[in-house]
Amino acid sequence: MKPSTTIQAVLILVLLILASWQFLKIDSLEEEIHELKQPSLYVTMNQLQNQSHKLFYALENQNQELVDFYIHELEESAETLIEANVEYHGQPVGELSRTMLLAPVESLEEAVDDGDWELANQRYQVLIQSCNSCHVSTGYPAIVIKQPDMENPFNQDFSVRE
Ligand code: HEC
Repeated sequence: MKPSTTIQAVLILVLLILASWQFLKIDSLEEEIHELKQPSLYVTMNQLQNQSHKLFYALENQNQELVDFYIHELEESAETLIEANVEYHGQPVGELSRTMLLAPVESLEEAVDDGDWELANQRYQVLIQSCNSCHVSTGYPAIVIKQPDMENPFNQDFSVRE
């Protein structure tokens, strides 16, 4: 082999190593971007609690405009989880949010649109039960949402579960 051929071969090898190192770097950057784009489940759940809490009082006051506002916010929170296809400790939270969150919110919306406040109140209860069913099925049975009352300022039951 002529010395120039050897130099060429070494150069090509070095370039190949550099190129594959770049690809590995791009891969890990893509993964990082994907993770950064994932909504924080804790923050989204906090929003859901806030929105469902205020929705209760808006329903109690039969304030159509405010009820519509919080229903819309709840739908947006649900869609955030669905679109990001959130997985949490192996649980398909995004997928579950379609049936256990968006669906009950939409059926509550239908009752409100029909001006049927009694049915809307019943569907609010169904929504809260659905929040809790998902907490049970995703391994968080201690997170219990309830209709707000005067016991504590949150719409949450903090008592120890049996
Ligand atoms: C698709 C399943 C699912 C549904 C539906 C769901 N949650 Fe959650 N929720 C979770 C999971 C999983 C966690 C634990 C997240 C964590 O560890 O940050 C959680 C945590 C929470 C927390 C604890 C965080 C905190 O700030 O105290 C609250 C409150 C909460 N959810 C409220 C709600 C409310 C209100 C609804 C219904 C309007 C709801 N969730 C519906 C799965 C769900």
